[in-house]
Amino acid sequence: MTPATQHHPSTPPIVAPSILSADFARIGEALSLIDPEREWVHCDVMDNHFVPNLTFGPIIVSAVRKLTSAWLDVHLMITEPLRLIPAFREAGADGITVHLEACADVRGTLAAIHDQGARAGLAIKPGTPLSAAERYLTELDLLLVMTVEPGFGGQAFMADMLDKVRAARDARERGGHHYLIEVDGGIGPGTARRAAEAGADVFVAGNAVFGTHDPRAALVSLRAEVGVPEAASRG
Ligand code: DX5
Ligand code: ZN
Repeated sequence: MTPATQHHPSTPPIVAPSILSADFARIGEALSLIDPEREWVHCDVMDNHFVPNLTFGPIIVSAVRKLTSAWLDVHLMITEPLRLIPAFREAGADGITVHLEACADVRGTLAAIHDQGARAGLAIKPGTPLSAAERYLTELDLLLVMTVEPGFGGQAFMADMLDKVRAARDARERGGHHYLIEVDGGIGPGTARRAAEAGADVFVAGNAVFGTHDPRAALVSLRAEVGVPEAASRG
């Protein structure tokens, strides 16, 4: 089955609202705020094992897929994600990100994502140094630098992760790699700008969008803060 994605925006900067902070009883309304021409939808999958929280699996991803044509950026915070990659792809994930700390065979897991025709991302927790990911950088479409401990929305941004973002940018340039650098956790007014200045390309924001009384306005100002062009006419 080919996921019904029409738009594949991969030109940074990209804001990726996380539905974790949305009202799941009105998920269609939340998704309607997201512009498929320039935004991604970030889906946080948690297993109560790799992280203490428990969220959703492929069934919800496939429901989201039916409600938006936006790029589905699926962040798997689950132990040993390898055998579930086909299910998430089948559900409509465009990009699948796994945690370095959660995989026995990181290279094999990234290859499985590519075999399924999705873009492959690798996430590293705040305590994991960039050097641990170094040997995989050539294989990555996306490197996710966690700016909070994974598990929950609404946590405070860890400013000391900005050095890791800078190092990821430098490593990309030195090595001629092509991965996008994504930041996730505590991104909102102020922190989004700092992450952008440090070299981030993709900005996940849960609470700063869906935790506000005017999610639409919050999204508009986040776009402006990271420099997303006004018109939907970019390439
Ligand atoms: C945290 C998740 C995040 C979360 C971010 O483990 O990976 O994607 O939704 O939420 P905020 O933006 O509220 O920190
Ligand atoms: Zn996430």
